[in-house]
Amino acid sequence: MTAQRRVEARSSRSKGPLAAQAPAAGLGVIVMAAGLGKRMRSKQAKVLHQVAGQAMVLYSVKLGLQVAGDRLALVVGHQNDQVRQVIETAISDKQRRARLSIVEQREQLGTGHAVVQSRPVFAVGTRGAPARYLILNGDTPLLREETIRELLRVHDAERAAITILTAILQDASGYGRVVRAGLTGRDISRIVEDPDATADEQAIREINVGTYVVDGAFLFDALEKLDPSNAQGEYYLTDLLHIAVSQGRRVAAVVLEKPEEGLGVNTRQQLAEAERVIRQQIRERWLEAGVTMIDPGSTWIDAGVTIGKDTILHPNVTLEGATTVGEDCVIRSYTRLSDCTVGDRVEILDHSVLRESVLEDDAILGPFVHLRPGVVVRRKAKVGNFVEMKKTDLGEGSKANHLSYLGDAKVGRGVNIGAGTITCNYDGIRKSQTVIGNHVFVGSDTQLIAPVTVGAGAVVAAGTTVTQDVPADALVISRVPQVNRAGWAAKRRALATDPPHGNHVNLVGTAKKRAKSRSPQRRA
Ligand code: UD1
Ligand code: MG
Repeated sequence: MTAQRRVEARSSRSKGPLAAQAPAAGLGVIVMAAGLGKRMRSKQAKVLHQVAGQAMVLYSVKLGLQVAGDRLALVVGHQNDQVRQVIETAISDKQRRARLSIVEQREQLGTGHAVVQSRPVFAVGTRGAPARYLILNGDTPLLREETIRELLRVHDAERAAITILTAILQDASGYGRVVRAGLTGRDISRIVEDPDATADEQAIREINVGTYVVDGAFLFDALEKLDPSNAQGEYYLTDLLHIAVSQGRRVAAVVLEKPEEGLGVNTRQQLAEAERVIRQQIRERWLEAGVTMIDPGSTWIDAGVTIGKDTILHPNVTLEGATTVGEDCVIRSYTRLSDCTVGDRVEILDHSVLRESVLEDDAILGPFVHLRPGVVVRRKAKVGNFVEMKKTDLGEGSKANHLSYLGDAKVGRGVNIGAGTITCNYDGIRKSQTVIGNHVFVGSDTQLIAPVTVGAGAVVAAGTTVTQDVPADALVISRVPQVNRAGWAAKRRALATDPPHGNHVNLVGTAKKRAKSRSPQRRA
């Protein structure tokens, strides 16, 4: 009564980017993500923990949406507000959102109980119930779409009531074990959970991955028959196999060729293992797509990142979140980009930290640049060492090459921002804007006290504190007038080396003492 197929290992060469396949007709998907995950020893619900910069639950949800021809029900419980938030942010596409329903499991009474909560999602609408369901754990982030397609193919070919995904592990501890019996010893009779397994059953190395295809007519009726009299007092979804077999229905299985794909994350160790595997897969994918990595092992790329052809990533580069990098860019070592959009031919030198910013084509940045959220560096603009920017638009071809802070600023085209320029955007209560017109020359060590506007073509003399708007094409200068005292330095030196009465005299020190004895505090 059992059938099994192996998922063929595909060489990474043949993998390539997956051509999007059509959703499977009449397939409803249920993702279970309500558990706390006690074994993580965390304040945070397990499915919110990140793997390669993406909450674990999103791997199952995105995979589910990829194949679902019908609705997808996500079962949430622990920290469900945060889980909903993560889903809302990540699944923004309206069509995909419309197919996704979130249901709550108030008490976590087991995986069987979790699936029961999804029933109302599939009971509504004119389409009728799905012909079959794909059920996914929320803690198996390494599963691949090809595997799910194979599981569906086998399920249909075998006309099974349930088809499960299994893996053969060296160390199967913690997982549900697949018990096979029958004349050939190959027929699956049930799954036994780790805490309920006898010593003999614990020796079984074939495990249940937690990925199931279940016949639509069978699922919810069979769930009503679950009984929580087991070691954990839970309604086990896995007891469905036993129910199917006892009704004389077919149970089929697909055995993973690469068991690591079936990794279930219950502990921090397993989380680290999932991270390691996914990071490696991501590197391979981008190498394959034409990205150069000088040292792939130290190059960290999140799941949501995209990178253009012929871009070169030097050792210890980190690309995070929804960052996109164009073609022919060079990113030097120890640079981190988070949620940034980078055009083509952009060069970012070492030790730069860039967040939620946009770099247009041919921009050059670094080393040691800090971009906080809301920066736009326009085409061919340059940002040099020790420059911090925040909510600033740096115009085309403009330069801020050394030691500056630009915050809440709009800088036009072809502007030179001299070394040490600071926009004083915060008066302790509110933030204000600085506007600098096209082709302005800002001399070194300038402070711009916002709100302030410098008109196009103006020249700001070095050392100026700009407190009022500057008209276009004007010179603005505010400096203490310079005083030259002829011979003063030579006299000072003479006093220091040839002291009167043999005592060492320090001109500066003496002047300070005099000033102190005259200070009002002293006299009071
Ligand atoms: C489960 C399987 C086990 C399998 C393993 C694979 C059961 C009874 N056992 O065990 O056979 O080898 O996965 O990784 O299914 N969840 C809920 N509500 C609940 C309980 C769990 O939504 O009341 C969710 C969790 O958030 C998680 C998933 O279901 O995403 C699996 O739960 P977990 O506690 O991790 O089950 P395992 O012990 O790993
Ligand atoms: Mg688990």
